[in-house]
Amino acid sequence: MKYRIAAYISGSGSNLKAILDYSLQKKISSEVVVVIANKDAKGLEYPASLGIETAVIPRKEMPRKEFVEKQIGLLEKHKVDLIVLAGYIKKLPKEITDKFKNRIINIHPALLPKFGGKGMYGMNVHRAVIEAKEKYSGPTIHFVDDIYDNGEILLQKKVEISENDTPESLQKKVLELEHIVYPEAIKLLEERRVN
Ligand code: GRF
Repeated sequence: MKYRIAAYISGSGSNLKAILDYSLQKKISSEVVVVIANKDAKGLEYPASLGIETAVIPRKEMPRKEFVEKQIGLLEKHKVDLIVLAGYIKKLPKEITDKFKNRIINIHPALLPKFGGKGMYGMNVHRAVIEAKEKYSGPTIHFVDDIYDNGEILLQKKVEISENDTPESLQKKVLELEHIVYPEAIKLLEERRVN
């Protein structure tokens, strides 16, 4: 199965870049057809340079109805069949999680179900992992429903935490792995070898 992907981002978009590069190199057969951000994110530059439509849809600057309709309009226009959240910090509206049931995935920078849930994003996650003196961390790719970090897990990869690791060094280690694991998860979905 070859997916038409909508990627959602809020930040630097390094995971999106990894996915785009896998797609350009034909290491995955799916294609990113539209990128949506909640603000003018740095990560929009790369897809825009490839001619992919990008859109900024900020929640606070419009009524909720318009916020939802703008997204659904783009998803329909581009015949999207997989939503890939790549560092998107907002919660998706229920209209979208219902419409795309089992067709939305997210990456989380820790081994869920530990270190997930509201407030657990960015450095907060890595700080909590280091404070808990965990031996391992690593990215989790999971399906998305309307509860934070709650959906079924698709793929996880472990990285060992050494005594000298800081939240910053751990973030770097996990992020490097994310760039391999996220495209790999899309490939698993394409091949339906989901485990
Ligand atoms: C990553 O750490 C990812 O796990 C989390 O948000 C970050 C996004 O980074 N969900 P980037 O924008 O892909 O560089």
